[in-house]
Amino acid sequence: MGFILATKMRRSSRLLEFTALLVISILCLVIIFIKEDIRPKKPSNHFQINRRESTYQNRPQKPTSESAGVSTWVHCERNESAANVSGFSSLPVHIQDFLFYRHCRHFPMLLDVPDKCRGPHKSADVFLLLVIKSSPANYDRREVLRKTWAKERLQNGVWIHRIFLSGTTGTGFEKRKLNKLLQLENREHNDILQWDFNDSFFNLTLKQILFLEWMDKNCRQARFLLNGDDDIFANTDNMVDYLQSLKDNDGDKHLFAGHLIRYVGPIRESGSKYYVPVQVQESDSYPPYCGGGGFLLSGNTAMVIYKMTHTIPILPIDDVYMGMCLEKAGLGPESHFGVRTAGLDVPSQNVDTYDPCYYREIILVHRFLPHQIYIMWHGIHEPNLKCSNSQGSL
Ligand SMILES: *[C@@H]1O[C@H](CO)[C@@H](O)[C@H](O)[C@H]1NC(C)=O
Ligand SMILES: *[C@@H]1O[C@H](CO)[C@@H](O)[C@H](O)[C@H]1NC(C)=O
Ligand SMILES: *[C@@H]1O[C@H](CO)[C@@H](O)[C@H](O)[C@H]1NC(C)=O
Ligand SMILES: *[C@@H]1O[C@H](CO)[C@@H](O)[C@H](O)[C@H]1NC(C)=O
Repeated sequence: MGFILATKMRRSSRLLEFTALLVISILCLVIIFIKEDIRPKKPSNHFQINRRESTYQNRPQKPTSESAGVSTWVHCERNESAANVSGFSSLPVHIQDFLFYRHCRHFPMLLDVPDKCRGPHKSADVFLLLVIKSSPANYDRREVLRKTWAKERLQNGVWIHRIFLSGTTGTGFEKRKLNKLLQLENREHNDILQWDFNDSFFNLTLKQILFLEWMDKNCRQARFLLNGDDDIFANTDNMVDYLQSLKDNDGDKHLFAGHLIRYVGPIRESGSKYYVPVQVQESDSYPPYCGGGGFLLSGNTAMVIYKMTHTIPILPIDDVYMGMCLEKAGLGPESHFGVRTAGLDVPSQNVDTYDPCYYREIILVHRFLPHQIYIMWHGIHEPNLKCSNSQGSL
């Protein structure tokens, strides 16, 4: 009897110890969780940016453009009467969604690089700004671009700078994790602009307009821009040569060049990624435009386009929208031979499509995988690269 009682008591005191430990660990977890939860809600980069600003400039504190933007931002309401247009209920969901939010042009900025074109150094004189649209999860693409053609550097005496444009993807903790990724990258590389909108294909025009607005505030002095996707191979050495060779255009005159597309109109097949129903655009034709994989433009033209965006309703196809803005400004896009957003025609099946010799002369090619970009960038810089004449002239 006595033995049993003693064991029971020992057992219950152990149970007590265990319960106490459990309660303490749960409390610790709760505290950690609350801390973690508070942090992402207050974008810490605000503080970083303010600190960076104040170390650069000893002028009186005034709200940065970013914090001002966030505080004045009002949630953009769904336009309920969009559902009144005829045939609305039979449209694909992403197009219905587009129509509901078509008028929304302002979203809170999550990451900013306000000093990209200022800075204390001569590097503030940006000759070529690489503006690359990239979704949050495309970490590997951004990493390889930073090491290859989009490296920030002095090239032939002029500065190349880089900026990635991003929205958000997913919801809940998935979204928070990807936002954290971009935050970490931006801390290390100082090259990401991020806004809090769904980074979908049909929001690419929105992304473009938000960038132009940012440029108007923070980087009007950039002479030229390469505007493109994160899956292109761009020979930025050649690009600088070409831009420097332009007669009497130092970025202060019109330039908009790329893979020119003309005499086309909206795709009306509802299965297509590019499907644009009459409810979105009635007209059956698009103005001339350059393929959105990548195009070159002057700082001057970028600002003209920005002005036009104020009066043209958003069309979800971003490259066509650029063409609409140009047309309204009385300007046009031009074709550049070295821009191959539709890919390269390599003469025969028996030769290596990724032979660097085919890429020395070009400026830009669409659809490269990260490892292909890495190999190609090193390939074209190979000092002993031997190419036959036929390969040199595509
Ligand atoms: C359009 O939608 C709004 C909001 O849902 C509604 O109040 C209005 O009556 C509709 N108009 C027509 C013409 O159906
Ligand atoms: C809402 O949608 C209707 C129908 O498409 C359109 O006429 C109206 O201009 C839109 N309102 C706003 C604020 O964009
Ligand atoms: C973002 O847009 C895509 C395409 O329309 C859609 O599939 C996805 O659910 C959206 N995500 C959020 C969080 O709204
Ligand atoms: C664009 O982003 C906004 C904000 O996240 C979202 O409400 C809207 O659905 C998106 N539009 C499309 C077409 O994905």
